[in-house]
Amino acid sequence: MNILVCGGAGYIGSHMVKMLGGKGCNVVTFDNLSSGHADAVLSGALVQGCLSDTPALRNLFFQYQFDAVMHFASCIQVGESVHKPAIYYQNNVANTLNLLQVMVEFEVKNFIFSSTAATFGEPQYTPIDEKHPQLPINPYGRSKWLIEQVLPDYDHAYGMKSVCLRYFNAAGANPDGLLGERHEPETHLIPLVLQAASGRRKNITVFGADYDTPDGTCIRDYIHVEDLCEAHWLALQYLRNGGTSQNFNLGNGQGFSVSQVIDTAKAVTGKPIEVTYADRRAGDPARLVADSTAANAILGWKPYLTELSVIVQHAWTWELNTTRFD
Ligand code: UFG
Repeated sequence: MNILVCGGAGYIGSHMVKMLGGKGCNVVTFDNLSSGHADAVLSGALVQGCLSDTPALRNLFFQYQFDAVMHFASCIQVGESVHKPAIYYQNNVANTLNLLQVMVEFEVKNFIFSSTAATFGEPQYTPIDEKHPQLPINPYGRSKWLIEQVLPDYDHAYGMKSVCLRYFNAAGANPDGLLGERHEPETHLIPLVLQAASGRRKNITVFGADYDTPDGTCIRDYIHVEDLCEAHWLALQYLRNGGTSQNFNLGNGQGFSVSQVIDTAKAVTGKPIEVTYADRRAGDPARLVADSTAANAILGWKPYLTELSVIVQHAWTWELNTTRFD
């Protein structure tokens, strides 16, 4: 099977490329390396290019007969999206439409799209299932939601089948320490906490301890990156077996607070972690937890690496390895 992985040099994409290679797929990564890393592509070919470059995409689709496209390439920082929305609409929307256009031209019918819990906005109830209203509150969430909305039209008109996977908090790393989270700048809680543990960072700042949660800090649903990749693999089988276009929420269904994450990191690493407290970060809901019943029922997906200590342990192995990139 020939699979195009857009954004295959990034955090989740690189884990996916490795998994697809291990399953015997012929993988081609297309990545502009704006935030990804060439040395994270551990399987198949890496083609450096931008999704805005239609001739480059046509060349690629001409060269390989792709059976499916997985699209991880996007800008992902909620805060930045508020100040620089044009980048988000250009990259996450216009460039994705470009990719879809070339898929239509080359009659590639299977599309797996990385979406996000941010398409829901402020939760009206938790856990969040697929029926929850989608009212994104920032350009990042809106950019992903726009693509979710156009895909049914591509299905209707061109027979393109798609699965949108809405990640909650992607976390963890390849258990062997070969891959992990390498964002620059890093904004995500677990890698930042572990940088404070390793001494690469002085401390971790907790954004708000006055939320309506048991310990006052925000609750999130941390889902291991390997479990996320497994969901993509199952989605691919589902589409190849004639499944209809669907959207799925992906999480553990269990929430952990910021303070619980820090305590777990202290226990896993055995290191002291200096904690400071600051005001709430704009746009952070108190609690985001997924209901993944549909992914289980329809894709047969079940997360396995659900223990927070395991997620943090794998991220810690990676953090200790990353000194080699400094
Ligand atoms: N946090 C801190 N200090 C930090 C970093 C984060 O206290 O230095 C807190 C945040 O306030 C939040 C929690 O840790 O309560 C998790 O924050 P992350 O930035 O790790 O993740 P988010 O929940 O903000 O974002 C994730 C994805 C986004 C997606 C969003 C959906 O990374 O892509 O969920 O709402 F948009």
